[in-house]
Amino acid sequence: MSTYCTQVRQLGFRLFGYISEGLGLETDYIENVLGEQEQHLAVNYYPQCPEPELTYGLPAHTDPNALTILLQDQQVSGLQVLKEGKWIAVDPVPWAFTINIGDQLQALSNGRYRSVWHRAVVNSNKERMSIASFLCPCNSALICPPKKLTEKSPAIYRSYTYDEYYKKFWSRNLDQEHCLELFKTYSGEQN
Ligand code: OGA
Ligand code: NI
Repeated sequence: MSTYCTQVRQLGFRLFGYISEGLGLETDYIENVLGEQEQHLAVNYYPQCPEPELTYGLPAHTDPNALTILLQDQQVSGLQVLKEGKWIAVDPVPWAFTINIGDQLQALSNGRYRSVWHRAVVNSNKERMSIASFLCPCNSALICPPKKLTEKSPAIYRSYTYDEYYKKFWSRNLDQEHCLELFKTYSGEQN
């Protein structure tokens, strides 16, 4: 488990590098902003359920952290993402991780990367497991988009610390409005 956590972290840092470059920023930009990061690991177990239409394994949510690396059960589907108002299955791909952008990358990229709604459904005849690794900013990290990304379009969200965000996130129901909506600036409201 400890080797897994270390290697998944390395993978996450590589992805932060590519994402930073994709935004036209220095390779280590995102890693530096996020600071001394915490990493949380969840082993999700979804037991089989005789009436799967009556419940969710995990209700709709966005991930509050920066980036999530999900190892899905290779045999059983269950993850869905919301795309243009429809829930779409994200079936496991053999030997591949599912990478999910979290709220903090949406804020840092001034909305260029999206933290999408997702949920997990259960099965009537099969149990399912998944292992989610959450890369989280340091609590005191100040989250705001870099100047380069606000020159042409104003900041959608006000700056905040991850600590403030995380408390707000868990003070509401998971499937309420996108938590970032609560951090919109006036110009963000116009978007
Ligand atoms: C999560 C999550 C999805 C899954 O743990 O945040 O979205 O397929 N898990 O278990
Ligand atoms: Ni999630």
